[in-house]
Amino acid sequence: MFALIASLVLVPLSIVLGHRNGVFDQSPILSTTDPISPRQKAQLHEVADLMLDIYQTLVDMRYLDPVGVIQGPHNMTDLEPQFEELGIDPSIRYLYSILPYVDTDAAGNSDFLLEGEFTDFRDPDQVDQARDPFYASPSNSNFDDEDGPNMRPWYTPLSQLGNHGSVIVYDARRHLIWIIDQESWSTTDLALQNVEPKEVETANQNSFEHIPSRPAGDVLKDIVQWYRNLDILPGGGENSWQEWDHNETPLRDLYTANGWPDRFDADAFEINQARAFSRYLAQDFADRPINEVMRLNEVIERYKKWIETQTENLGYTTTKESEWAIRSRIWCMELDLTNFEEDLIAAEQKVKQLCPENVCLPPQEWPLWELQAVTERLESLKADLTTAESGFEVDPYEGQDLDEWKEDVLFRQKQHHLAKRKIAVYQKAYEAAREDAERLCPGQTFESVTGLGEMVWFGRMKEELRLVLTRTQREVELTREWLAQLPDDVPEARSDIESTIESLGMEVQYLEETLRE
Ligand SMILES: *[C@@H]1O[C@H](CO)[C@@H](O)[C@H](O)[C@H]1NC(C)=O
Repeated sequence: MFALIASLVLVPLSIVLGHRNGVFDQSPILSTTDPISPRQKAQLHEVADLMLDIYQTLVDMRYLDPVGVIQGPHNMTDLEPQFEELGIDPSIRYLYSILPYVDTDAAGNSDFLLEGEFTDFRDPDQVDQARDPFYASPSNSNFDDEDGPNMRPWYTPLSQLGNHGSVIVYDARRHLIWIIDQESWSTTDLALQNVEPKEVETANQNSFEHIPSRPAGDVLKDIVQWYRNLDILPGGGENSWQEWDHNETPLRDLYTANGWPDRFDADAFEINQARAFSRYLAQDFADRPINEVMRLNEVIERYKKWIETQTENLGYTTTKESEWAIRSRIWCMELDLTNFEEDLIAAEQKVKQLCPENVCLPPQEWPLWELQAVTERLESLKADLTTAESGFEVDPYEGQDLDEWKEDVLFRQKQHHLAKRKIAVYQKAYEAAREDAERLCPGQTFESVTGLGEMVWFGRMKEELRLVLTRTQREVELTREWLAQLPDDVPEARSDIESTIESLGMEVQYLEETLRE
């Protein structure tokens, strides 16, 4: 009886409240076949079409492999219950069924605009995350609450956050788009950089309504234009091949040199990209003695500051325990400092020997270094391909879900396709680099000029480990001596040092075992 009354009362109340709050002022949520006004439908198709233009531009730029761009419409029937549960507006459900998606396993890269990532609403997890694209984790469902949600049922992101990047957010009612950076909580839309945010009108700290936005079609068309103008570049995040790292490969120059956007020679671009990235690897490898000196200088500086601070703290101690705890800490740091200073002398000698006048890679040797780097990269890609191929033979393991197994196989096939394409590019890069090397450095090889068979960072592993072992054994001895002269009535300081000795002892044991292998 009570339930009946309650439901009779609650239904009209929710309608009244809903209307007042503007939350439910759409017709009740029905299935996606429900009428959406022709005007809105046209707008949703504009969004889907322009997203496809963006992805196609990234395909043209050779950032995405075309097999990874999955066009709509998609059958979203299985997600209907989830849409229902999340209260997602019919307009957004419809949009999800017509948007193009990037299958990042097949496309090769997953970083998208302004350090964001591609999103794919065929994936239930991403549908869930789309209700909280900035990971605000609101504790209250009321949009006016201080810690309320920020995604209205008719809003959706068109990209994922990535590692503190920007998200493209679409409002299907007003047909607007925000591009919002999570950390600065401001617009990163290049066209709105001089636009002031509006007055904040809500107590909701998670709200982004005050951040400038503009008509969706304009934003999406501009994104294509930004890529065409190289105002923004593909890649640049943690989820792309290193060839797309903006600090490692001069992408803008490479695009321009190869005729982007209107006379673009995409094949030449890819080969030059592979060569440019290989040159980066070669330089990075060649510079390691200089980088090591820089690193050690920084570490030594930091340790000296720490020791200074701790020495000052010694003046403020009130108990004998804390005094000796600090003394021990200083003592340990000084021990480390001695090691670093020793390393620095050795590293500086290496620089003198390998990098005369601070040039580690003499200009006349460039072709040989580049050829070496391309060769090694090609070899490692071929090894990856072999691994992917060996996976084709694998049967499902005992008890493995058959769908999961099929997905694994599919994943390997995608990797295989990408690896083969990449190998083809590196093969051509190799041939071009070899020609250059033969022409510019006749009769010479990487080995003949460097004395190295390959670019390995830890060439003499055992030798280095032996040095570490000797040093650690000496540290054990010195730390024992330090323990012996500690006063008896500072048990905590003593036990700290005892555990230091213990862990040093374990390290010695580990090193000895490794060297014996
Ligand atoms: C869509 O998927 C559902 C459930 O998987 C299936 O029953 C239905 O036939 C599909 N519709 C179309 C048009 O393929």
